[in-house]
Amino acid sequence: MIVDMHTHIVYGVDDGAKDLDMSRAMLKRAAENGVQVICCTSHSTPGHAAFPWDDYLAHLEVMGQVILEEKLPLTLLTGSEILYTDDAADMARRGDVPTLAGKNAVLVEFLPITDWGQITRAAREFSTRGLQMVCAHVERYHCLHEDMDRLYELKEEYGVILQMNCSTILRAGGLMGDKFAKKALKSGLIDIAASDAHNVTERACNIGQCRTFLQKHYGEETARRLLEDTPQSILF
Ligand SMILES: [Fe+2]
Repeated sequence: MIVDMHTHIVYGVDDGAKDLDMSRAMLKRAAENGVQVICCTSHSTPGHAAFPWDDYLAHLEVMGQVILEEKLPLTLLTGSEILYTDDAADMARRGDVPTLAGKNAVLVEFLPITDWGQITRAAREFSTRGLQMVCAHVERYHCLHEDMDRLYELKEEYGVILQMNCSTILRAGGLMGDKFAKKALKSGLIDIAASDAHNVTERACNIGQCRTFLQKHYGEETARRLLEDTPQSILF
């Protein structure tokens, strides 16, 4: 069962789907890619803007109707991509922003220029509040490129789960591919691959292609671990 753990598929709440038509197109695209479970991780910035719970839940309900109308084999789960702020861990603990599938795990992003101290601080804060941190698109942070041992440290010391975007994984296949991504994948450090889909054009779901790529270059076991087993273990 393929899971897309990171999407901006709920319309009208962030910079992802703009309207219901786009959400409908994205749902169809996900199903065509073989996805069966979608975690709807709309952006949140704790302490800076209230999470739009009412619109988010109302729009999710409409999307559930679309799934029935279109007879798509999809299950939607709640979630959020939480930009780390001083208030993030406390607000996630209180349920002011959505955790992943309402469980004790959170998808957390940082600004690309965030320093190492900030990432470890976040990992500690979520961990001490009983929340498992899933680091969104781990390839994006400069301080991790500087020293890849930091990926080990995040995993071993803080139990952080590392997510990489499918588009980065696919780019890692080219001659000019991202060295960081290649090395992290080869070392088995990446735990989850997800689309981070925002639309059906330049940021579309490409999980099917990514699954084929992972199978070919890293083996069936890795493809299954990144797209099925690890996300399922967090969400169910
Ligand atoms: Fe995202």
